[in-house]
Amino acid sequence: MELFGVRHVAVIMDGNGRWAGERGEARTRGHRAGVDSVREVVTECARADLPWLSLYALSTENYRSRPWTEVRYLMVLLKRFLVDERPTLMENNVRLTSVGRIAELPAKVVAELRRTEALTANNNGMTLVLALNYGGRGEISDAARRIADDVVAGLVESSSIDEAMLGKYLYDPAMPDVDLLIRTAGELRVSNFLLWQISYAEIFSTPLCWPDFRKPQIEEALRAFALRRRKFGGLLAKETT
Ligand code: IPE
Ligand code: IPE
Ligand code: MG
Repeated sequence: MELFGVRHVAVIMDGNGRWAGERGEARTRGHRAGVDSVREVVTECARADLPWLSLYALSTENYRSRPWTEVRYLMVLLKRFLVDERPTLMENNVRLTSVGRIAELPAKVVAELRRTEALTANNNGMTLVLALNYGGRGEISDAARRIADDVVAGLVESSSIDEAMLGKYLYDPAMPDVDLLIRTAGELRVSNFLLWQISYAEIFSTPLCWPDFRKPQIEEALRAFALRRRKFGGLLAKETT
């Protein structure tokens, strides 16, 4: 699989419920099938030496607003994933990390997450970021609060707040900007994902639901990225004459 210079892929894994609905199955069946896509996409990206892969697994809005039965099932799946995938993560040299308001998740999930993070901490291949109870606005407002605390404590000057400095207060200061933002299930919205980091991301939307997004589809998204002409507000060489 060729990366075409992509350093950071972020995926809004949407459409598990619809995938199940189309088959006359319960939404939970779709979430279960979605885990197989996660495993395949993670493995392929790791083998291709992608530096960063961020997966939107649960938004703050999902956690807050979905029926408790669905949220509870997602927590069971997540906990199982964090345990079962350890050998695969180790085999593929993947470092697993997380972003979001993790402390608000059930204690048992947090414990397995911390164990998997600790186990994989020294892996130096791909970094896999799970966004859990994550919201982009929440991330930026959490950063603003921590900066304010440091200003009050006299640790930083308010005059030193700029984009680079704010970036250091985000959940993972080492996370690079997103190059390619993928959304499945045909929606054309960002749903509060990595708002700071996607400012110049190329967007790829596919009508396929997440359980149907596998190796050929990630390859297709990367090929589509290769055809994009990124300008970052500037001009292409041929436009300057
Ligand atoms: C995405 O699938 C997974 C999560 C949000 C956890 P959905 O559950 O949003 O599936 P649809 O959008 O209802 O089909
Ligand atoms: C975004 O999907 C969140 C995740 C994929 C985890 P949603 O299904 O929650 O997004 P909306 O509600 O359609 O915008
Ligand atoms: Mg959805």
